Amino acid sequence: DSPSRPKLFDFHGVSMTSSFTDNWETVQNFQARPDDVVIATYPKSGTTWVSYILDLLYFGQMSPERQNTIPIYERVPFLEITESGPNIHSLIFLMSLPTTPRLIKTHLPVQFVPKSFWGQNCRMVYVARNAKDNMVSSFHFARMNSYIPEPGDWNSHFQKFLAGKMLFGSWYDHVNCWWKKKQTYSNLHYMFYEDLVEDTGREIDKLCSFLSLSPSAEEKTRVMSEVKFDNMKNNAMTNYSAKPGMNFEISPFLRKGIVGDWKNHFTVAQNEEFNEDYKKKMKDPTLQFRTEI
Ligand code: PPS
Repeated sequence: DSPSRPKLFDFHGVSMTSSFTDNWETVQNFQARPDDVVIATYPKSGTTWVSYILDLLYFGQMSPERQNTIPIYERVPFLEITESGPNIHSLIFLMSLPTTPRLIKTHLPVQFVPKSFWGQNCRMVYVARNAKDNMVSSFHFARMNSYIPEPGDWNSHFQKFLAGKMLFGSWYDHVNCWWKKKQTYSNLHYMFYEDLVEDTGREIDKLCSFLSLSPSAEEKTRVMSEVKFDNMKNNAMTNYSAKPGMNFEISPFLRKGIVGDWKNHFTVAQNEEFNEDYKKKMKDPTLQFRTEI
């Protein structure tokens, strides 16, 4: 491991790095507002995509300058991160956000979500992406982002993913525990990256119905166009190009944006090993990912 890269450690049973645990007390005591909207994901599942969709649905009409001047990661601040500085939000910045609703990003496993969000009955949007493509996306992201642990070679990343030794813990636990939460907490909309790729308009309609939003047909068309992969990739406010610590020459933040890139990475043996292990960990038949597409 490079000495400059942070190290994973066990934090209440979940692998974390200090940039996401240093502010723990403050994060846990966060005072949610009833109209806060939380976008929760396991990293690399479509957080930025859904963040931009929601930002446009809520603020696209009334404040275009917001879209043109503020990077998406400041419009939708990251709850548990501790870094701060020019152009990087902090929790203090998040607490003082004047906009209503506040859109808040989190990668926390469900058991770590500050109590106040549940107490205020906040709306939560959970985005899940199939494990195989998620693993590929996180591999390339870890190669280019010096703020997170190095992935090693593809096979060691693959093994760590299966073992759950990843930042924010096991993908399997994350998607399963959030799914379980949905059974008891009705203000949770659980959606899939693959569905968004398949039919963005249909998924936007579902989001609008969950959030009680009713954009005009024209507005919806505009949102659909703005959030297309190529448009987000060419948009300096959504492509993360202004964020320090990321080396886009190694891999851009908006890398491919497709379903099935795992086929270009998994060996036949890895696919078999993955499928065997997957069956053991994904026992709830009501939670189905399209891992073969
Ligand atoms: S992060 O760092 O956890 O917030 O990353 P996250 O935004 O969750 O995930 C990044 C992946 O989402 C892809 N992405 C998109 N795909 C399709 N269409 C659009 N508009 C889009 N926006 C982001 C992004 O390309 C990353 O996936 P990969 O497979 O690496 O390309």
